[in-house]
Amino acid sequence: MRMYDIIERKKRGAELSDREIRFAINGYVKEEIPDYQVAALLMAIYYQGMTDKELLSMTDCMAKSGDMVDLSRIYGIKVDKHSTGGVGDKTTLAVAPLVAACGGTVAKMSGRGLGFTGGTVDKLEAIPGFSPSMNRQRFFGIVNRLGLCVIGQSDEIAPADKKLYALRDVTATVDSIPLIAASIMSKKLAAGSDKIILDVTVGSGAFMKNYEDAVTLAEKMVAIGERAGRQTVAILTNMDVPLGIAVGNNIEMVEAIHTLQGNGPADFQEICEIFATEMLCLGERGDEALCRSLVADAIESGAGLEKLAKMVKAQGGDETYIYHPEKFEQAPYHIDFKAEQDGYIAAMDTERCGKTSVMLGAGRNTKNSQIDYAAGIYFYKKTGDRIQKGDVLATLYASKENILAPALSFLKESYRFSDERPEPKKTVFARVTKDGVIRY
Ligand code: URA
Repeated sequence: MRMYDIIERKKRGAELSDREIRFAINGYVKEEIPDYQVAALLMAIYYQGMTDKELLSMTDCMAKSGDMVDLSRIYGIKVDKHSTGGVGDKTTLAVAPLVAACGGTVAKMSGRGLGFTGGTVDKLEAIPGFSPSMNRQRFFGIVNRLGLCVIGQSDEIAPADKKLYALRDVTATVDSIPLIAASIMSKKLAAGSDKIILDVTVGSGAFMKNYEDAVTLAEKMVAIGERAGRQTVAILTNMDVPLGIAVGNNIEMVEAIHTLQGNGPADFQEICEIFATEMLCLGERGDEALCRSLVADAIESGAGLEKLAKMVKAQGGDETYIYHPEKFEQAPYHIDFKAEQDGYIAAMDTERCGKTSVMLGAGRNTKNSQIDYAAGIYFYKKTGDRIQKGDVLATLYASKENILAPALSFLKESYRFSDERPEPKKTVFARVTKDGVIRY
């Protein structure tokens, strides 16, 4: 078998066999096939797509390229959650403790932020002392004791995805539906949970810019999960605006804490309650009405917040930050973005909003960039809001004063204004399961 022939066949739209796919992926992981040939194959896949059979082979091969984690030493039904990425997406920080507080089990391996999207592990590391690294035995012990633990994804999980993602990132092949589906599901299958909930984001701050593509991606991922014997549900959520108000590590931690107290921004509070309910239903804690009321009670009683504090403590962090979020460091410099006219915010380029937060220091440009935990943006007004000249639309925070003005001019380009109120958008668009799509 020759890699050249595999590329040639895919370029012409042929269906690759399981053997051909394994030859290409395994050869790449073993460094027997060079980057330039795999890059050519990825571009051929980008244009030709993949059949369902090819996608299953690719996902399975990528999942088995490393450790297939065995979580059987953890009691209960383990439910994993994954988001296709977004700006201000701090959902796991609130949802995982809520689920655990209601008797669910969350053994979560989370990623770091790269590019314009943030990562759960980075946000948790904003808490002094918090460590996302530990051996399996300790991880299992914390989950069995508390019902949750969030650790960083080890290099042993789906190493093929790690290599392929890095190559896709520099060859303009990230936004391909089959490649995203294989990338996400290979990691989820390898991570070992019994059931999976997927947050498929849609809009200007997501990989899927429109509803139809997001449904296709969701359907493919659900089919892969179900085929592997893991019940999988996908929820399509709006990423045409940043989620919540805060974008940045410290301020997102604070927003998650407020949400666990029932005081989160409306869109984020709604998403957290929906995902926590879904995860409890998947974990067989009861029917939808019961799970929804369990979640409401965990917010009302403070049990969700207490669970987060216990997890932080178990992972070496200073849990007093959870009860006193004013302890999170504030950046020394800020600048306001003020409305220059009356009217409405008609649209926001959310990817650009995310890139502005990276400019301020809140994210990484490369894998090894240092994060400034105090940097970030508060978006006080978002798409659909009525504004008056002089209103503060957003405040940008940074540790270096000279970054603020260029970041503000970059951010300004994200907004479109209008005299007309734009059509309001829902926060949650649809639910996709093996039985079909239900639009909200
Ligand atoms: N998230 C992933 O893990 N992989 C992708 O390809 C895109 C988003």
